[in-house]
Amino acid sequence: MIRLDRYPREIVLRNGAGLVFRPMVPEDVDRLWTFFQSIPPEDKMFFRRDVNRRDVVQGFADALDYERVLPILALEGERVVGDATLHRRKSGWKRRVGVVRVQIAADYRHLGLGTAMVRELRHLGEKASLRYLMAEVIEEQAAAVRAFEKLGFERAAVYPDFVDDRKGEPHNLVVLLYRMSSAVDDMFC
Ligand SMILES: CC(C)(COP(=O)(O)OP(=O)(O)OC[C@H]1O[C@@H](n2cnc3c(N)ncnc32)[C@H](O)[C@@H]1OP(=O)(O)O)[C@@H](O)C(=O)NCCC(=O)NCCS
Repeated sequence: MIRLDRYPREIVLRNGAGLVFRPMVPEDVDRLWTFFQSIPPEDKMFFRRDVNRRDVVQGFADALDYERVLPILALEGERVVGDATLHRRKSGWKRRVGVVRVQIAADYRHLGLGTAMVRELRHLGEKASLRYLMAEVIEEQAAAVRAFEKLGFERAAVYPDFVDDRKGEPHNLVVLLYRMSSAVDDMFC
């Protein structure tokens, strides 16, 4: 179990704005839904679930289980401006692989928040003794690829025409991997 006593955690962006990071709770459903509505349609096209539907976001809140999906919100007061999730499996062969996803409100981009949230997930992954973090990004999402690479994720594979956007157009999927530092020790144990 990951200890969450570091939250709420205050961070300061490079423009001086103060935000709070904390795990999502069921009562956040409205503010999370409002956040998703503010995400530009071109970014939402690549989301796995249709977050324009209120019932889909309600479903996230109803099914909260931090051992499976740990959502960290970035809040400016009561407003959600970033959402980063760490997805894990409780058992099976991928139980030490965490999948990370991050989205930042359009007016909070290029301030280092995406990087700070990926760094936060990386910290949580270390605490959960994960061996790898994995991010799956559409190749055209240059900012996302760059944000992950900056933090040490490496392109492990590109799957051509692997995923369809909501209009049915195929896109290359880039798989980025980060090997946790604790996993390097594993090799010598
Ligand atoms: C990808 C995303 C999370 C980045 O968030 P952000 O807060 O803007 O990221 P940062 O400010 O930390 O920037 C990280 C790095 O990405 C690069 N970057 C940022 N915007 C970029 C752009 N438009 N094009 C290319 N590189 C870009 C820069 O190298 C930047 O580092 P620097 O500012 O130190 O030079 C954000 O753009 C987003 O939410 N996109 C839509 C959802 C998405 O694509 N999620 C990823 C899939 S899981």
